[in-house]
Amino acid sequence: MKPPELLPSASREEARLLEQLDPRRLPHHIAIIMDGNGRWAERRHLPRVAGHRAGVKSARAVIETCARLHIPALTLYAFSLENWRRPKAEIDFLMRLLREYLRKELPVIHRNNIRLQVIGRADQLPQGVRSDVERGVAHTAGNTGMCLNVALNYGGRAELVDAFNAIFDGVRHNGVHNNGLETFRVDEQMIADNLYTAGLPDPDLLIRTSGEMRVSNFLLWQIAYAEIYVTETLWPDFRCAELYAALVEYQKRERRYGGLAAAARGGKSAARAE
Ligand code: FPP
Repeated sequence: MKPPELLPSASREEARLLEQLDPRRLPHHIAIIMDGNGRWAERRHLPRVAGHRAGVKSARAVIETCARLHIPALTLYAFSLENWRRPKAEIDFLMRLLREYLRKELPVIHRNNIRLQVIGRADQLPQGVRSDVERGVAHTAGNTGMCLNVALNYGGRAELVDAFNAIFDGVRHNGVHNNGLETFRVDEQMIADNLYTAGLPDPDLLIRTSGEMRVSNFLLWQIAYAEIYVTETLWPDFRCAELYAALVEYQKRERRYGGLAAAARGGKSAARAE
C-alpha cells in the first residue's frame, strides 16, 4: 500500500508498516477497547484526567486514519455501564470531554463523510451529552463513508437484554409473528437485527490497549469470530503507527471460522479430486 495515497505526512515507521499492508484485505469493522489512560497519566505524575485528554488525541488520529483507509466501520468503547462506579469528578470530566470532542470534531467528522452512531443506553446519559450526541448523529446521518460507533453507557449483556426485549415487544405489539408468543422462536439473524449494531458487519478485529486480556463486556455477540489483538501500548500512545502494526498482524492471521486452514482444505479437495 502506497503511503502518499493515504497519509502524505506518514512518518518513516508508518510508511514502513503501510508498505506491508494489503489494501484488499483490510478489516470491515474494527472495534477498540481504549484502555490505559489512567496509567499513562500516573506514569507522568499527572492527574488521571490528563490521560483521558491525551486519549482523545489518539481517538481522533485513529478515526481519521480508519476513514482514510476506507474501513467501513469503527467502534470505540468510550464509556461502559460499569464506568459509573468511578469517582463522580472523573465521570463528569469524561462527559465534558465527550461533549467537547463532539462539538470540536463534528465538522471534521462530517468533512470525512463519516456517519456517527452511538451504541448503548444513551437515554440514561446526562441531558447535555444526549443532545450533543443527537445533534452529531442527525448531522452526519446522510454520510456514506465510515460508520463511527461510539459506545456510550454500553454493556454487551445489556445490549443482548435490549435486543431480546425489542424482539418480544415486536411479537406482542406489532404482530410480527402471527401466532404470537406461543410458537415464537428466536434465531441468530433476529438477534443480530435487534442489536445496536444492526446492519453493520461484525468486527473482524478487536484491539485492546494496555495489555489486559479481557473482553470487558464489549460487543459480546458480535466478536464471536473477531481476531483479538492486545498491545501493551497505553491508549494515549496508540497512534497511526500502532494502528498499522495491528493491521499488519491481523493480515498475518488465518481466519478459519471453525473450518480448516487453507492448506488443509486444499489437501482435502485435492485428495477428493484425485
Ligand atoms: C480507559 O482508561 C479509557 C476510558 C474510560 C475511556 C475514555 C476514552 C477516551 C477519553 C477517549 C476518547 C474517546 C472518544 C470517542 C472521543 P482507564 O481510565 O480505564 O485507564 P487505566 O486502566 O489505566 O486506569
